[in-house]
Amino acid sequence: MDSTDMGEDLKEILITEEQISSRLDELAAEIDRDYEGREILVIGVLKGAVMVMADLTRKLHTPLTMDWMAVSSYGSGTRSSGVVRILKDLETDLEGRHVLIIEDIVDSGLTLSWLKTNLESRGPASVEIATLLRKPDAASVDIDVEYVGFDIPNEFVVGYGLDYDQKYRNLPFIGTLAPHVYGG
Ligand code: XMP
Ligand code: MG
Repeated sequence: MDSTDMGEDLKEILITEEQISSRLDELAAEIDRDYEGREILVIGVLKGAVMVMADLTRKLHTPLTMDWMAVSSYGSGTRSSGVVRILKDLETDLEGRHVLIIEDIVDSGLTLSWLKTNLESRGPASVEIATLLRKPDAASVDIDVEYVGFDIPNEFVVGYGLDYDQKYRNLPFIGTLAPHVYGG
């Protein structure tokens, strides 16, 4: 697939399918080393993390189980407020578990910071975070993201789980949108 398949909506491909796959190989190897002898509870944050969850977990050799959460940040618009509502909670008891949260992107970090605190209050043995993408603003937030796929510029990106108006999640790569798509 190339950019022409998106017509004129796409500005450019920022990260190719091949780049994502080889970076996930590296992250998986790192995670396998870090969790040796333990079992992981991998928690995917719906809907954006679906692709990275599916691809990363298939590269892991550590025994694991999966669960999913859906959260929504109050105060819609493009910035998250840090006040989060749980739309779908976990089905798993976290007591004594080694939790690895999988996210698509960390921007302000407010959503993830809230989520980490929430999960830590449920008695897990550990909670770490893996994200495919991280934007520059995340650097200024006091949140420890153990595994980062790519640091990207402060641009709105779509594809590989990420959407604009619920579209483009199925693109196999990470791309930036042309300004006319979001009214620029
Ligand atoms: P925080 O709380 O870290 O929120 O600001 C992260 C959430 O914001 C969304 N987000 C994006 N979604 N392209 C997207 O499709 C982007 O470039 C982007 N930046 C932030 C996303 O839902 C993420 O979970
Ligand atoms: Mg998200």
